Amino acid sequence: MAHVIKVCMGSSCFARGNSKNLQIIQNYIEQKGLDAQIELTGLRCCNRCSMGPNITIDDEEFNNLDQGSVLDILEHKFNK
Ligand code: FES
Repeated sequence: MAHVIKVCMGSSCFARGNSKNLQIIQNYIEQKGLDAQIELTGLRCCNRCSMGPNITIDDEEFNNLDQGSVLDILEHKFNK
């Protein structure tokens, strides 16, 4: 797998937006046909709840994500 996206599924991140963000990422991967290149996985709380919702892409961490910023990051990283 070329890339790994990890979405924090801890209760704080999940309640504050990662349930939606996960959906957005899944849709993006599907629409762009990237499922062979991107592994999408969940993550337990990494004790950075105050900065959440958090995700990591290839071990780079992104914080305070909402739907718009998630899409921006995906476009920036994968729309090449
Ligand atoms: S719930 Fe995501 S860092 Fe704690």
